Amino acid sequence: MCRNLSKYGVFFLFLALSGFIFLLRNIHTVENWNCHTVSSLYQLQSRIQSSFLTVHLPTFSRNRTFCAHLGQKASPEDELEERYLLDSIEWPGPAPRPAPLSLRQTSDPAHSLFTIVPNRRWREWRLGDQLEALVQIHDFQGRPKRYGGDFLLARLHSPELGAAVAGTVVDHRNGIYSALFPLLWVGPARVEVTLVHSSEAVAVLKQLREERPDRVFFKSLFRLGFLSETTVCNMCLPSDQQPLCNYTDLYTGEPWYCYKPKMLSCDNRINHAKGGYLKHLLTNKEALLFQSGVNIKVQIPASGADGVDVLPQEGVAQEENDTLKPEHFQFAPSGYYYEDSWRPLGGVGMRRFVDPSAIALCLRNKVVNMYGDSTVRQWFEYLIAAVPELKELNLHSPKNVGPFMAVDIPHNIILKYRCHGPPIRFSTVLSSELRYVSNELDGLSGGPNTVVVLSIWAHFSTFPVEVYIRRLRHVRRSVVRLLGRAPGTLVVVRSANLQALDQEVSLYNSDWFSLQLDAVLKAMFKGLNVLMVDAWEMSSAHHLPHALHPPPAIVRNMVDMVLSYVCPEKKRNPT
Ligand SMILES: *[C@@H]1O[C@H](CO)[C@@H](O)[C@H](O)[C@H]1NC(C)=O
Ligand SMILES: *[C@@H]1O[C@H](CO)[C@@H](O)[C@H](O)[C@H]1NC(C)=O
Ligand SMILES: *[C@@H]1O[C@H](CO)[C@@H](O)[C@H](O)[C@H]1NC(C)=O
Repeated sequence: MCRNLSKYGVFFLFLALSGFIFLLRNIHTVENWNCHTVSSLYQLQSRIQSSFLTVHLPTFSRNRTFCAHLGQKASPEDELEERYLLDSIEWPGPAPRPAPLSLRQTSDPAHSLFTIVPNRRWREWRLGDQLEALVQIHDFQGRPKRYGGDFLLARLHSPELGAAVAGTVVDHRNGIYSALFPLLWVGPARVEVTLVHSSEAVAVLKQLREERPDRVFFKSLFRLGFLSETTVCNMCLPSDQQPLCNYTDLYTGEPWYCYKPKMLSCDNRINHAKGGYLKHLLTNKEALLFQSGVNIKVQIPASGADGVDVLPQEGVAQEENDTLKPEHFQFAPSGYYYEDSWRPLGGVGMRRFVDPSAIALCLRNKVVNMYGDSTVRQWFEYLIAAVPELKELNLHSPKNVGPFMAVDIPHNIILKYRCHGPPIRFSTVLSSELRYVSNELDGLSGGPNTVVVLSIWAHFSTFPVEVYIRRLRHVRRSVVRLLGRAPGTLVVVRSANLQALDQEVSLYNSDWFSLQLDAVLKAMFKGLNVLMVDAWEMSSAHHLPHALHPPPAIVRNMVDMVLSYVCPEKKRNPT
């Protein structure tokens, strides 16, 4: 009897102890998770990152097709379009790729120059003319470059008039570039040319994009009861290293994977979040190509005059300057600033919505559905700040992540925001709220009271362009279906914008990546009955510094453009 008791006693003691140890192990994680202070989350994140960095991060095979061609097979037409799109954004560069150069042989904005080319009337410029500036790029030793591929931005502006327009840069592939501008206002106009990245830096970015789609990684938390585990996720993960959970979307076939947790099942996924950024992507030599103030976004000086004075058109009264249509120009911008207001060329007739009640009247009886990244969340925030009756509901959503909703009962307005699906790089999105835009669009009835606003670009910069093309193809298909079943639906697409760059940001989010995505986006939605808000030109022409989230002065112009599309000016009766 006594012997029996002690035998059971040892057994129970063992049970109790192991239970206690189990609890201790897990309370730690659960506690950290429930405690939503920034510091403990940060600690958790950095702990996860550091442990994964050494143990779990996958090694990728270095070939460009690996990530891009997962998912459903494209139709022959889709493949043809993809080839056309990729050809259209083909970037020239040092060919063949140079042996590792020393910094001294690479493009140096300080040694480079631009010159305004005299026109056929020598130096007399008139409204509607095209202005050309020739840019000669030199290296750090002052020698002219002999190949193209530098990433330049050009703008023509007049601070006195609040006027500005983005220029078109043509690469002659010999170290010389033309920056072309239509002359859209009478008065002073100054040229500004900026080297964003040298051709050598672009070559590095290109290689990173094709070979290191893992340089931003993601994670998911899996939880059941007391058990919780976090694993690494991405659009593609090498399957030979550990078992995977396959979260490929059933409707679109968009691929998404996480490593399978050791104890829990794939069904226990709770959320999706940005994991972190891989470091040490550059060699010491490559790092010299990305120096703030040296060769990232540095202005190129003018040799001679940097501007012209534009006269009215000969024999044309100033009032008739409305005749300036995009088709008059070889390289037409989508619009320009005048008196700090954006004037689209063609398309929508721009109205100003200064009065909050004018905005509310415009949106009366509308449901506005915004989908995408934080650059369209800015529009949501702008509208709820601008219209006092538009009250945001507390949906208990995580800050900055959403989904969000605001309503104006008197005007019967609903405003909604939801982020796009993976690879969204937000802090933590619940799995249940992780939706693909195209599936959301398929769930809309649409109609003249429905406005759809899309902004999908910023979180795709670390992947090969094929990944972005595939995503937009799915979204476009849903837009076409929506416009087919409910033709009155108003669809607005916001393009990419420029942002502040330093070395680190360049490797993940460079404007060069955005430029390429932007070109694809505009080409893919061309000809559809949608409004394209050209955030690229609006940020590139504007005098304020580039920012991932453009300043209110630009956002106001963007939202005014959307409202002008939703509520066009009533046509005057012909007299
Ligand atoms: C790319 O890598 C994947 C995965 O390792 C492999 O299956 C595929 O054959 C490779 N493609 C090429 C073109 O090398
Ligand atoms: C076009 O003409 C109108 C009317 O004279 C004037 O107010 C406006 O400033 C002109 N626009 C430009 C860009 O010069
Ligand atoms: C993941 O699931 C999709 C859809 O069911 C399938 O097409 C794909 O082959 C799966 N991926 C892997 C690696 O098994």
